[in-house]
Amino acid sequence: MKIKPIYIFIILVISYLIYSFTLYYNSFSKVEVKAYSNEKAIEGRLVFQKYNCQDCHQLYGLGGYLGPDLTNVYKKYQQNDVILKAFFKGGMQQMPEFNLTTIEENQLIEFFKMTNSSGSADPRDYQFFPSGMIEQKDKK
Ligand code: HEC
Repeated sequence: MKIKPIYIFIILVISYLIYSFTLYYNSFSKVEVKAYSNEKAIEGRLVFQKYNCQDCHQLYGLGGYLGPDLTNVYKKYQQNDVILKAFFKGGMQQMPEFNLTTIEENQLIEFFKMTNSSGSADPRDYQFFPSGMIEQKDKK
């Protein structure tokens, strides 16, 4: 029996469509953007950008180095919102005072909750050289 090429072509096109559909349907519908599922956390991220907190602070190790990394700051202060809000409002030493509204403070707290829930920063020690290079210290 001889199959006409047109049928083979049609079967291939249909298989291609079914395959593409299942592939993309699954990848689009099941993608869970957990980090950004919280509206307030997204707004907190914008507050963080608006006041240029990143100039002095790092998130996930990236940012300015005048202040500490804030990725897990929520855990550092025992998830105590009051202490964190005092930092935002009062500043200290080289940290300027910010006149944040209560809403902005709450949004920032949500943002730090989100970064904290995404994991802990790498606790490894780094050695700084005068040349500006950094190197991981040997594990003891
Ligand atoms: C001009 C630089 C600068 C900017 C801008 C800045 N900070 Fe800071 N921040 C610091 C410094 C320096 C410290 C550490 C002060 C100390 O240890 O005495 C600090 C400490 C903190 C702490 C306590 C962290 C810890 O681990 O103890 C929090 C929370 C914080 N800042 C949040 C913020 C937020 C939120 C913003 C933006 C609204 C911001 N900072 C903007 C310099 C800055």
